[in-house]
Amino acid sequence: MERIEIKEKLKKAIQIWKSKKYKIGFVPTMGVLHEGHKELVRRSLLENDKTVCSIFVNPLQFNKKEDLDNYPNTLENDLELLRNVGCHIVFTPESDVFYDGVKINKYDFGVLGEVMEAQFRPGHFEGVATVVKELFLVVTPDNAYFGEKDFQQLAIIKWLVKLEKLLIQVVVCKTVRAESGLALSSRNLRLSEEGQLTASGVYDALIFCLNNTSIFDPQTLVEMAIAKLEQRFEVEYFEIVDEDSFERIEKWEESKYPRAFVVVHLEGVRLIDNMSLNP
Ligand code: PAJ
Repeated sequence: MERIEIKEKLKKAIQIWKSKKYKIGFVPTMGVLHEGHKELVRRSLLENDKTVCSIFVNPLQFNKKEDLDNYPNTLENDLELLRNVGCHIVFTPESDVFYDGVKINKYDFGVLGEVMEAQFRPGHFEGVATVVKELFLVVTPDNAYFGEKDFQQLAIIKWLVKLEKLLIQVVVCKTVRAESGLALSSRNLRLSEEGQLTASGVYDALIFCLNNTSIFDPQTLVEMAIAKLEQRFEVEYFEIVDEDSFERIEKWEESKYPRAFVVVHLEGVRLIDNMSLNP
């Protein structure tokens, strides 16, 4: 595996691959890699000739400086994991150079830019869209891999690819979970052992909704899920929305693809998860 830190050098390597008609897969990350990221890389390796993974803690997408400062760094482990899985190039740019000359766009994401993550993390998706667009322009992949774990982010990326008319296939990968149901996340590292056990309650609340769609209407389920979660967590939001329009659902008939979205805080850690409520 080659490690590249400079955009121009990466562009050259990509050019050589393109001249050989290689299909290129891309997995953007912020490091602290776990099985979830690994699954994205494996999928890319299966579906492409070459795979690039980026590790870049993007300062633009952190709306709280302390969150950026507290973001863990496990670079040596990450490189080892990527080498072992068979990734071809890891791109690890430096933050100040990466944004040299990059135009910071203002986007109008519509409803996507108003609800849930957008509402609670102002500016977050502008930061995500800016970094992903720039990464896409450098890597010019055929396929780019994203996790359902960040479902609203995924919708933003699809929207961006359409808006910018990029010839990139966005490939959706299922959320990888611990045995307890807890969605794997770099932030889980910051939980105590007890916190990790408690955190599976987020999954339990989502499963509770999935199992009770035939009994309760969406908003009653939301109230019940929040009441359950409040016993153990500080709840930021719990919503049931249509997974295409992101509009809140009052009655099941309003949506073919209802999905529950949740964010809670535990031990100062922000935990995010979601689940399709289609039986
Ligand atoms: P990061 O949180 O490192 O996640 C990188 C990718 O891994 C995202 O597509 C995310 O959805 C996926 N992922 C994380 N946990 C997962 C899990 N348990 N199962 C499946 N996929 C999982 O998301 C970002 O970085 C950044 O916002 C980024 C897109 C890199 C832009 O900076």
